Amino acid sequence: MKRQMKNLSKQNFPKLRMRRLRSSDSIRKLVMDTSLSPHNLIQPMFVIEGKNKTEKINSLPGIYRYSVDNLLKEIKKMMSLGIIAIALFPKISNKFKTEDGSEAFNENGLIQDCIKRVKYKFPNLVVISDVALDPFTSHGQDGVLDKTGYILNDATNAILLKQALSHAAAGSDIIAPSDMMDGRIKVIRNGLERNRFFNTKLLSYSAKYASNYYGPFRDAVGSASSLGKADKKTYQMDYSNKTEALREVDLDLREGADIVMVKPALPYLDIISSIKESFKIPVFAYHVSGEYLMIKAAARNKTINEKALVIETLTSIRRAGASSILTYYAKEVAKWLS
Ligand code: PBG
Repeated sequence: MKRQMKNLSKQNFPKLRMRRLRSSDSIRKLVMDTSLSPHNLIQPMFVIEGKNKTEKINSLPGIYRYSVDNLLKEIKKMMSLGIIAIALFPKISNKFKTEDGSEAFNENGLIQDCIKRVKYKFPNLVVISDVALDPFTSHGQDGVLDKTGYILNDATNAILLKQALSHAAAGSDIIAPSDMMDGRIKVIRNGLERNRFFNTKLLSYSAKYASNYYGPFRDAVGSASSLGKADKKTYQMDYSNKTEALREVDLDLREGADIVMVKPALPYLDIISSIKESFKIPVFAYHVSGEYLMIKAAARNKTINEKALVIETLTSIRRAGASSILTYYAKEVAKWLS
């Protein structure tokens, strides 16, 4: 193959000049493999209790936490820019946090209420809701602990199932377990079927790495202070590993996932690409809070062009094989593209 290509170019020059197809903006557009549209960009949004509240998040410049009424106004603006999907994350007050995170499945909890109101007002908006316990536990882990502090797998799955069913009942379109417990997709899929939620989609965070890029998010949902110095390495993946990601995806697909997520995105393009090639399924990528912050911080230095850099970054993630990208830049990019 390599030899063949080499011979072709040798024989054909100057018949073949690669630069011909780069010679104008229009011709470049005609031969483009990958495009970026607001349809591929999913805005993560943070929700808080109360009325008429918009809170600044210090660790994520340009991103806010909204009470549901203000969230609805913000969604309206985003939809007018072409955004068709959002991912919801709650920040609840500490008094609702417990060892087992049981507020997570409160039928009238903050997120459940939010999903209902968002879907009532915007039935066509795709709502992705996060299934994980970390915003609800007093210790900030995504699961329940045993006496030694180890995160229990099956006991956590039982709670995640209740959480997922409460989201489905509220009207969530896509349920996204981001916890990395073993077997949770099977447990949730069976539960959804039993309760006749046949069309509720499961977006599994299949390849979620124990990453250092999550810091600003943990601050945004208030799990950073609960977590303290603890880490999530006994359930999230080791960033040295790649074949393990393929095994995780394989398992999740068999258990009933419709879409899989790779997270973070830019340092993990090889993972996105391998999964896409191996399984031919929709892959989403999460361009996470630390990735966003790095570009925002660099943009303060006038020597980089933020807009061009972000579009290049997101296009690269699409080129690697991501159908859609969760990114804090979604709204801003939608504006730039319009
Ligand atoms: C945990 C969760 C995390 C993110 C989304 N869901 C972080 C973590 O594992 O602590 C991070 C997203 C981001 O950094 O933007 N359920």
